[in-house]
Formats: sequence, C-alpha cells, structure tokens
Amino acid sequence: MRRLLVLCPISPHMADRIAAEFEVHDLHRDDNATRWLTANGATVDYVLTDGHIGIDSAILSDLPNLRAVSSYGVGYDGVDIDAAVARDIPVAHTPSVLDEEVATTALLLLLACFRNFEAQTAQARTGAWARDGSLPLARTADGRTIGILGLGRIGKAIARKLAPFDARILYCGRTRQDVGFDYYDDPVAMARGADALVSIVPGGDATRHLVDADVMKALGPEGVLVNVGRGSTVDENALITALSTGKLGFAGLDVFEDEPHIPKPLRALPNVILTPHIGSATVETRRAMGDLAIDNLVHHAQTEKMLTPVPECATAKSD
Ligand code: NAP
Ligand code: 8YV
Repeated sequence: MRRLLVLCPISPHMADRIAAEFEVHDLHRDDNATRWLTANGATVDYVLTDGHIGIDSAILSDLPNLRAVSSYGVGYDGVDIDAAVARDIPVAHTPSVLDEEVATTALLLLLACFRNFEAQTAQARTGAWARDGSLPLARTADGRTIGILGLGRIGKAIARKLAPFDARILYCGRTRQDVGFDYYDDPVAMARGADALVSIVPGGDATRHLVDADVMKALGPEGVLVNVGRGSTVDENALITALSTGKLGFAGLDVFEDEPHIPKPLRALPNVILTPHIGSATVETRRAMGDLAIDNLVHHAQTEKMLTPVPECATAKSD
C-alpha cells in the first residue's frame, strides 16, 4: 500500500477516505516530525497538504521517493512549485469546486461594507439604538461599479453573483478576456473608475502589494476594498493609513499578510469588516475540496496522472 504523508489539518471524512487507500502518517499531529522524516522520509510516496502549510524545499528534500503532492485548496502559494517541478513531482490543487462559496464570501463582505452592517448589528445588539438612536445612513450597494482584480474562476463567479445588484463590472488582469466587461491592465486606472475593488488574484511574488497606496487613493474616501484572495496582495500598512486618514472609505478582508495574526491597528478601525479566512469554509464546499484533493492522489496511484494539476504541472501529468 502506498504511503501518504499528511501535512495539514484534515476532516474526519478525509481521514476515513485516505485510511482506506493509503498507509498514512499524519505529520501535522506528530510532535517529533523532524525525527520521523529523517527515519522514514524515503518511504513516502504521496503528500497531502493545503494552500497555507504547503510544502517547502526542505521537506521535499526529506522525501527522495515522492511521487506527487495534492494541495487542499486552489491557492498553492505555500508549495515550493519550482522545487517540485525541478524534480518532476506533479502538484494538484482543488479549483472550481469552491468558486461559488468564495464568491458568496466576497459579496457578503462587499454588502457589509456598503451598509456598515457590523456597526448596525452592534447598534441593535448592544442596546445603543435605544440609548443613542440610529446610526448615520449607510450607502447603497445597488447599481455600483465594481472592479474585479483577477477575473478568473472565482472572479467570474463574483461577477455573476453581482448581476442581481445591477452592478457594472470592470476587471483587471494580465490578459484581456472576451467577457463583455471593461478591461484594465492597471489596478490604479480601474480603481479610479470603480466604487469598489474586489481582489481575487493568487498570492506570491508577482502579486505582492498589487493593491498599494495608489490603488487605495484611486478608490477614494467613499471607496470600498474587498480582499478574498491572499493577504500578500494588499499593502496592509498602507491600508491602515488610508482607512485611518479617510483616504479610503471601507475595507472587507478575509485574508491577511501574517495569518492568523491581524495587526491591532487594523482590528481597531471602525471602517473594516474582518473575517478569518473563511472564503471556502462551509461543510459542503470543504467536503468537495477534500474529496477532490484525495481523488487526485487515488487517480495518480492508479494512472500516474493528476485530475486537476496546477498550471505549472499541467502538461505531462494530467488526465
Ligand atoms: P484563477 O482562475 O487562476 O484566477 C486568477 C486570476 O488572477 C486570473 O484572472 C488571472 O488573470 C489573475 N492574475 C494572476 N496573476 C496576476 C497578476 N500578476 N496580475 C494581475 N492579475 C493576475 O484562480 P481562482 O480559482 O479564481 O482563485 C484565485 C485565488 O483566490 C487563489 O489563488 C487563492 O489565492 C484565492 N482563494 C482564496 C480563498 C479564501 O478562502 N479567501 C479561497 C479560494 C481561493 P490573468 O492571467 O489575465 O492575469
Ligand atoms: C482554504 C483557500 O483556506 O483554496 C484556497 O486557496 O485559501 C481556502 O479555500 C485553504 O486553501 C484550505 O485549507
């Protein structure tokens, strides 16, 4: 039976599935991981990880006979993809099965920002409404111009979900697409023409701080920034300055530069809605992700190919 090394938290359903297919060692729960790797690394055929924990070149080098890696999640910026590709180790992720869920999270944050929803619920819950009366009027989310930074699988789902709100969609990316929305190759230019910007680009060096002080200034004092992609794509220090000085109106964030740590100055701001990276965090979607992550491993064990390889591995090792 092939040996599978688990590097990330997994659900009981995933644990049951992999136990039936593989000899499993859960390194995530192993208090002596380094000792286990030194003694047993050469016996490992497969790795199951996720987009945050990933797998770095050090662990990869401890696994000389590794056949494939499956990452639970669509983002794989925690995986040293260059090291894996150099060793011709295919890496799979879990695209598409989470698009609608993450898009719903983006809309939840967008609507909550425009309507100042968290403060309004607190006004009711704390008794402040009876004591102090109503809060100032919020702003409508209807009929807005929304700029999507990263019109990929999830970005397109966000655009679809915005249609009932009569939104005008702009988008920004490296390539123009045949989609019927206005294209921008510069996030600042798109932000100038938008009421809100939703960032849903992958993490990594190429997108680091893609949303910077200039983008925030272009969105303006009534502008809204939502980030459901990766924390690394937004300059968090510039965001705190823009929000606290009124250069940017509101921010709805599901991802952060140093998760799970969120800077206290950001947490203290009244014009933010913060969620702890819950974009895909529902029973239904996480089950679909877990099943696809395991299906990739089972398929590879049977065929030497992955069902949903990451783009860097898509040529040789996929069905
Ligand atoms: P995708 O289909 O590959 O779409 C990525 C989009 O980003 C594409 O439209 C791409 O367009 C654009 N892009 C990539 N690099 C760029 C760059 N350097 N500059 C500008 N645009 C760039 O990926 P997806 O399935 O939509 O997922 C997107 C990301 O969402 C994931 O990688 C992950 O980090 C994040 N995510 C977060 C959660 C959460 O829980 N919050 C859940 C799932 C996913 P071009 O190729 O035209 O540039
Ligand atoms: C999860 C995500 O947080 O898919 C992604 O890229 O960010 C989320 O779906 C994670 O990857 C699963 O643990």
